[in-house]
Amino acid sequence: MAFGHRYTGLIDRYRDRLPVHDDTRIISLGEGNTPLIRLNNIPRELGRDFELYVKFEGLNPTGSFKDRGMTMAVTKAVEEGSKAIICASTGNTSAAAAAYAARAGITAFVVIPDGKIAMGKLAQAMMHGSVVIQIEGNFDDGMRLVKEVANSAPVTLVNSVNPFRLQGQKTAAFEIVEELGRAPDFHCLPVGNAGNITAHWIGYSELAAQTGEHVTEACTFCRGHCRFAGGGVTGQRPRMVGYQASGSAPFLRGAMVDDPETVATAIRIGHPQSWDVAWKVREESGGWFDECTDEEILAAQKLLAEKEGVFCEPASATSVAGALRDIRNGKIPEGSSVVCTLTGHGLKDPDTAIAQSSRTPIKVRAELDAVTRAIHDNMG
Ligand code: F0G
Repeated sequence: MAFGHRYTGLIDRYRDRLPVHDDTRIISLGEGNTPLIRLNNIPRELGRDFELYVKFEGLNPTGSFKDRGMTMAVTKAVEEGSKAIICASTGNTSAAAAAYAARAGITAFVVIPDGKIAMGKLAQAMMHGSVVIQIEGNFDDGMRLVKEVANSAPVTLVNSVNPFRLQGQKTAAFEIVEELGRAPDFHCLPVGNAGNITAHWIGYSELAAQTGEHVTEACTFCRGHCRFAGGGVTGQRPRMVGYQASGSAPFLRGAMVDDPETVATAIRIGHPQSWDVAWKVREESGGWFDECTDEEILAAQKLLAEKEGVFCEPASATSVAGALRDIRNGKIPEGSSVVCTLTGHGLKDPDTAIAQSSRTPIKVRAELDAVTRAIHDNMG
């Protein structure tokens, strides 16, 4: 890299492919440019031949992929003169909204399910000075309420129904293709509202349009914002695979779920906002949806932490839990390249992590022999 080059966030980097103007004031915290880590130990132990990567979105400024969408949504809200933003959230969107609002000097109102968001996420929303409204209901109730509020109050809705959010999030696909030199064969993601799986498909579709041939039907995935609006694509794109938590799996049930439940609180969603479009992603990409139990999700989270040194939050591990199962059962064939998105950082939810750790801290006297014995007893 040339000296003196400062990374200034994904809008600056992908300016030509995002709906911004030369004089747009960009609200950024340096999001994007996250590592694509090739897993070594887990594939070796599985004894299968495949390339497995994790895109560690937990290394974004507020610790989740939401920053990619939020830099765009807040940049556009400010451009349009908005003084306040609002969102419903299972925790990560609210953390990102709070941080980017602080950066922009506007107010964030965040509506969260009382007692059902991870502690780190609540700390973020509070610390960044957002107005936190805890409702006696779940995320889906919150979503219904903020949509209604945004219709009448002077606040901009920054959930993923805001089209600028997906525009920002599509850049993760750009980064992956730039690094691998091609799209992977499979891209696996945890699915809640299904915004992120849709955003990735938009990104891959735009890139494929640059290299592939245009077909006649309209591109469903740009919502009029991409440069290729009006032409579909046939270039190389991955099969998109979405995994849900079993207790919150409307895509598996084929219908909305009214009382979603899962330890992966980030994806405790029964009424996905991007329902129709996500089915289209599955169909167009030749992918599928599947579900993982809470036990499988937590086991994958632990496996990543213990075997690869990657600490993601429970919801994020859903992508790896599902992918490993589909690699084992051959649905993902040997020789494939697979990218799993790890959507958020493990530090977001320390309570769940501590509760399921294999090792508890050893308490000893503050003396050399006691510490030496503890080391000796636990070697290897
Ligand atoms: N993983 C994490 C860590 C999330 O926070 C979310 C969504 C998802 C996956 C699912 O992404 O909704 O685009 O399918 N979190 C939202 C929030 C709902 O409020 O933070 P999706």
